[in-house]
Amino acid sequence: MIPCPQIDFTLEHIFDNLVELPTFPKVVTKALRVLDDPNGTTAQLVEVLKFDPALTANMLRLTNSALFGLPRQVTDLHTALTLLGQIQIREILIASAGAPYLTRPLHGYQMEPEDLWQHSMASALIAELLAKMCEYPDQPVLFTSALLHDIGKIVLNMFVGGRLDEILTLAQQERLTFTEAEWYTMGVDHAVIGSQILMQWDFPPDIARAVRNHHDPDLYIQDDLSSLLALSNILAVQLGLGVGADGFRHKINPKLLTRLGLSRQDMHRCIERALVAYEKSSDIISGYKA
Ligand SMILES: [Fe+2]
Ligand SMILES: [Fe+2]
Repeated sequence: MIPCPQIDFTLEHIFDNLVELPTFPKVVTKALRVLDDPNGTTAQLVEVLKFDPALTANMLRLTNSALFGLPRQVTDLHTALTLLGQIQIREILIASAGAPYLTRPLHGYQMEPEDLWQHSMASALIAELLAKMCEYPDQPVLFTSALLHDIGKIVLNMFVGGRLDEILTLAQQERLTFTEAEWYTMGVDHAVIGSQILMQWDFPPDIARAVRNHHDPDLYIQDDLSSLLALSNILAVQLGLGVGADGFRHKINPKLLTRLGLSRQDMHRCIERALVAYEKSSDIISGYKA
């Protein structure tokens, strides 16, 4: 019989008592709206972004990074936005907004500063590769879901702090998955919390749902976005980057491959390409630390 800890960590209790709920930068939300607007222009985007110097600097640095391989050095935001594609602009915006949260240390999850960031970026890069392999039509939505899928961990870490050790010990002693142990000790898991945060940040319901589903085999098998996100997460864990305490017992569910029409060989190919893409993006990934 597993000992039952006396903790009242219902979803309502956590959100009611959270002193410092993370916020999503309004500038980025506004910029994403301009990108969503079929009549939105580059000039409008510049108008929104220019008031955030840190974000502007990030956009320029990324535009000039090896990843995008532009033929010349770009020094102004308008040119950068003109040269980058819509998808790339979205990715840079989301990554810039998420980085301050995802680069925090998560002691309860035995994650060093950068671990969650590395795992999130690896998941997002793998998601891009899987989107291409499966010809998934909405790559930016999948990228965003993958980058932010573990955002709930920062809230649980902020709220329960050192007591996450209890989860880890329980998971190891009872051979539970980390998510099962979260449910057992807190009545909630980081996927549910993450989904709540994304809804509060006004992200589309599809993204919140995929994040909610990413550890639940019965749920993630229900739709393509959730399946692709779940597989991106598993492959990122298998890649071994920044996995922390959550990294054990993550195997590929064969149902995922069947649903997505992928083979084991496809997975090997995807991991190989992901390593190359991660290497290529390393300056970007480490550059967000600042
Ligand atoms: Fe997760
Ligand atoms: Fe994850």
